[in-house]
Amino acid sequence: MDTAPEPAAPRRLRGSALVYVVVAIAAVGATIAALALLRNISQRKEEAKQTALILAPVSEETTDPAVWGKSFPAQYDGYQRTADPSPLKKTLAGGESESYLEKDPRWKTIFKGYPFSVDYRVARGHAFMLSDQDMTERVKQFKQPGSCLHCHASIIPAYYKKGVEAGVPATDRRAAIMKGFEQVCSMPFAEGRALVHDAVSCVDCHDPDSMRLRVTRPGFLNGVSALARSDDPVPHLPSIERWRKGDRTTPYDPNALATRQEMRSMACGQCHVEYYFAGDKKIVTYPWANGLKVEQIEAYYDGAKWKDWTHPDTGAAVLKAQHPEFELWSQGVHARSGVSCADCHMPYTRQGAIKISDHHVRSPLLNINRACQTCHAYPEEELRNRVETIQHRHKDLRDKATQAVTDLIGAIAAAKQAGASDEALAPARALHRRAQWRLDFVCAENSYGFHAPQEAARIFAESIDDARQGQLAALGAGAPTKTAGAPGEAPQPSLGNQSR
Ligand code: HEC
Ligand code: HEC
Ligand code: HEC
Ligand code: HEC
Ligand code: HEC
Repeated sequence: MDTAPEPAAPRRLRGSALVYVVVAIAAVGATIAALALLRNISQRKEEAKQTALILAPVSEETTDPAVWGKSFPAQYDGYQRTADPSPLKKTLAGGESESYLEKDPRWKTIFKGYPFSVDYRVARGHAFMLSDQDMTERVKQFKQPGSCLHCHASIIPAYYKKGVEAGVPATDRRAAIMKGFEQVCSMPFAEGRALVHDAVSCVDCHDPDSMRLRVTRPGFLNGVSALARSDDPVPHLPSIERWRKGDRTTPYDPNALATRQEMRSMACGQCHVEYYFAGDKKIVTYPWANGLKVEQIEAYYDGAKWKDWTHPDTGAAVLKAQHPEFELWSQGVHARSGVSCADCHMPYTRQGAIKISDHHVRSPLLNINRACQTCHAYPEEELRNRVETIQHRHKDLRDKATQAVTDLIGAIAAAKQAGASDEALAPARALHRRAQWRLDFVCAENSYGFHAPQEAARIFAESIDDARQGQLAALGAGAPTKTAGAPGEAPQPSLGNQSR
């Protein structure tokens, strides 16, 4: 080892001379590349300028996407394609508008006594959101409030108009929108429906003057500022973490504080979230004051003594979960790594030499090349397999949890029929509420576990545990042992392999 430096010295000298030559060549090469890139960039910039050519003026009132489409034809083209049928898009959920209830009749038992037991279907593209809401039996057969329109229409101009009519000065746009929002929520559905014409539109996500991304839904603005006030860690939403360290005098406002990357998820979090209609005025409310996790939302509802309905078979005060995509994504590794909804669902695409965001919002599995391979250097088949592996495991757990909750309902119903008192049934009913909330939360989420696989599995495990404990509690409350309620003896509905 002592002699080692000797022969090394000349080699090092020769090496450093070589380095100079290499650096010189590299510098020339880099200059040429930089010049080429500059020319390329300036060409692209020219093209970008051309696409931003404003051919038709748009304002806060322009809800018709066709008018925006005159100036931004490429984005409008993608947007329109959300009306394309894409029957093979989903691995497990099934085709568009397929009924979840017909695929797995256990859900009729779970939702018994609530409109979802009558009609509940697989979602379609954005272009259909307003007409699908008109057509659902949940609207046709049941009295619904104007609140339903909050996420199914380009509704902000209608809120503004109603707010001004209610006396808010027209110059205070934000206050007028908030007031009008309350007014429309409280209306009967048909009255609110008459105020809107378009599905989610450009103006809902873009500032008409600057095209800057923004959020407009009052329910989201209220919900996210309540979330900011909570102490739930949200490392994937850094602007909230920053706001928390400040003086907190003005409420958290995403439009002023969120980063562009956060906005690329919040734009979707405006609607793809859990919600309920609070109070007699039926105000659309996102229950995030304790945080975004399933048990924090449950604690919020428990604190508000909220129930969506009373299950007729068991007498339990139960909850209905709705599409918590933003909440579940928040618990996953992609959110933690700063990957936004738009990264996967609206990936960049080239049109000629121009890079645009694909406004054909849809399943990324139809688009693995642009949605995933930008970050993951695996073949398309491998990526599809990884998603499907997650989704099949999810499906197995979901079937077990669905059965456990169905068994629990049977067990409590049997105890009730056998004459068990409300007092004796209380523990089993509390477990029914917990188990069903957890099951529904993950099933109502539309990624089949992909957005946060481990979190989804954790929630299913809790659901199964709660449901089986509830069965024991029901037996203790006086359910006869030899009835449909006993584990293993519950009627087993036939579970097609596509059941949800
Ligand atoms: C890392 C990529 C990725 C991110 C980030 C992501 N998703 Fe997804 N999403 C997926 C995949 C994969 C599926 C499953 C698609 C399938 O089964 O066909 C999915 C499914 C969905 C579905 C159901 C799709 C359908 O066709 O019915 C919705 C809705 C959805 N995501 C919304 C969101 C929202 C909202 C966010 C952000 C809060 C988000 N996603 C973030 C990859 C992603
Ligand atoms: C917080 C936003 C929001 C509100 C409020 C809302 N929806 Fe939706 N709705 C969505 C989203 C997001 C989807 C797509 C994801 C899904 O189907 O799970 C959807 C899907 C639907 C669908 C198609 C799938 C299905 O469930 O059969 C219908 C119909 C529907 N909503 C009706 C209603 C009705 C009726 C109301 C009022 C009681 C309402 N929505 C309120 C966001 C909302
Ligand atoms: C104004 C509310 C709203 C906003 C904002 C919104 N969505 Fe949706 N989204 C819906 C509703 C409602 C549906 C269901 C429409 C139906 O079934 O008729 C839906 C359906 C979908 C679907 C299913 C599409 C299919 O072909 O099956 C995906 C995926 C989706 N949304 C992703 C997103 C993403 C990603 C964003 C953000 C870039 C976003 N959404 C923003 C309300 C919204
Ligand atoms: C659900 C929300 C949403 C809706 C509705 C929407 N966009 Fe976008 N749009 C986005 C997102 C997300 C981006 C990416 C922005 C970014 O990363 O800064 C984007 C980007 C853009 C851009 C910038 C260039 C690009 O493609 O990245 C233009 C122009 C645009 N949209 C036009 C439109 C037009 C026109 C419509 C209506 C036909 C529309 N958008 C509807 C979410 C939306
Ligand atoms: C913008 C970059 C980006 C995009 C787009 C993206 N991913 Fe990822 N993905 C990541 C990162 C970062 C991780 C975390 C890996 C790590 O930290 O080791 C990850 C992790 C994963 C994992 C492991 C998940 C887990 O929970 O452990 C899977 C599976 C995956 N990605 C699949 C996909 C698929 C499928 C798509 C397209 C629908 C996609 N990703 C799109 C960046 C991305």
